[in-house]
Amino acid sequence: MNTPAPPPLPNDLSSFWMPFTPNRKFKANPRFIVAAEGMYYTASDGRRIIDGTSGLWCVNAGHGRSEIIEAIKTQAAELDYVPSYMMGHPKSFQLAQRLAAMAPGDLNHVFFGNSGSEAVDTALKIALAYHARAGEPQRRRLVGRARGFHGAGFGGISVGGIAPNRTNFGSLLAEVDHLGHTHNPEHNAFTLGQPEWGAHLADELEDIVALHGAGNFAAVIIEPMAGAGGVLIPPKGYLEKMRQICDAHGILLIFDEVITGFGRLGAGFAAERFKVVPDIMTIAKGLTNGAVPMGAALVTSKIYDAFMEGPENVAELYHGYTYSGHPVASAAALATLDIYARDHLFERAAGIENFWQAAVHGLKGLPNVIDIRNLGLVAGIELAAKDGAPGTRGADILAKCFKGGALVRATGDTIALAPPLIITEEQIEALMEIVAAALKSVD
Ligand SMILES: Cc1ncc(COP(=O)(O)O)c(C=O)c1O
Repeated sequence: MNTPAPPPLPNDLSSFWMPFTPNRKFKANPRFIVAAEGMYYTASDGRRIIDGTSGLWCVNAGHGRSEIIEAIKTQAAELDYVPSYMMGHPKSFQLAQRLAAMAPGDLNHVFFGNSGSEAVDTALKIALAYHARAGEPQRRRLVGRARGFHGAGFGGISVGGIAPNRTNFGSLLAEVDHLGHTHNPEHNAFTLGQPEWGAHLADELEDIVALHGAGNFAAVIIEPMAGAGGVLIPPKGYLEKMRQICDAHGILLIFDEVITGFGRLGAGFAAERFKVVPDIMTIAKGLTNGAVPMGAALVTSKIYDAFMEGPENVAELYHGYTYSGHPVASAAALATLDIYARDHLFERAAGIENFWQAAVHGLKGLPNVIDIRNLGLVAGIELAAKDGAPGTRGADILAKCFKGGALVRATGDTIALAPPLIITEEQIEALMEIVAAALKSVD
């Protein structure tokens, strides 16, 4: 097979304002990826780069899956676009049905958007509108969590808990409270999997509820495992407790599963792994294996049914996107779900978790490593911050790993790893060697 020549590199980088990136630093010393297949990227200088982060937590089935590519091509040729407003095409309905069947509990209805951020905004809006529909319009308060990441929309940053994402953007949504995060190195540093300590942190919700009155709360939104905030693993019993407290006060529980969905934690969804079912669940990323943008909010029958009343000629929810249920994204998602099922990738992730855990914790003792956390096929390696320059060590490790042949993610001074679920033991060892070498070489 002839490999196509790599595309020419641009000679002016100034026009593209890159997201969540120090633009000037990157453009002074850019890193380009020009191709991908399986577990590997190809850099513009021809080097193979092992993908330690599934792109950005999304390419769970590995790169260049021919079935997804074919589905995209075929769908684009057959029906490139039709709106989902007052009109339908078969695949969006088939996909919703598949997702409802896969999702735990009675999360039976799917509202499509194009990203995790839109999924979160959708979930928050549905939660607020649900209570209004159910006769409790005063339930408007939302609860997020420190170090939570729920995308970049105004809804998401309002409930999100990462400070730089919130500053300079005005007053955000009113009536939002934040729980504390669950990270406590004093009790939990270098824990294998879920920490024993910390379930009681969920009780903080009781205090917040008591302060404003239970009847004023619409929803709590949390990531079952916080990703972008630094890979924070839920303590044993914490999510269960959160569910109980929400139930006791009629508050909806939203799990943001944009990262944890589709096998990342060795089960279809974190909700399945932890056996805690939310009222609303947001998904994106692995839904299409990252090949085409798509996100969604899944809701229970109870929530959906509350909207299916009143005059039948009026839209039940005034919300949606031009590309909700896009034909090409729907086709890509259906092909992706086929691969997950046929190749048993969620089970594969569960099967390799212990090997992964041992390999990651093998980095303990290397320079500046102050904590290692893991769950499913995810790991966070936390480094001591450099005096007066937090985040620089993380960024340096990312750059060194790229030079050494691996893509990793730096969230501040925590290195996040989340490889495609197809990774082999040998590839895990190779990835750890590159990370170890980078850790040894950064001061
Ligand atoms: C938990 C979570 N929610 C929402 C988002 C936002 O997704 P997107 O970037 O597709 O808008 C992300 C992105 O990383 C995420 O990790």
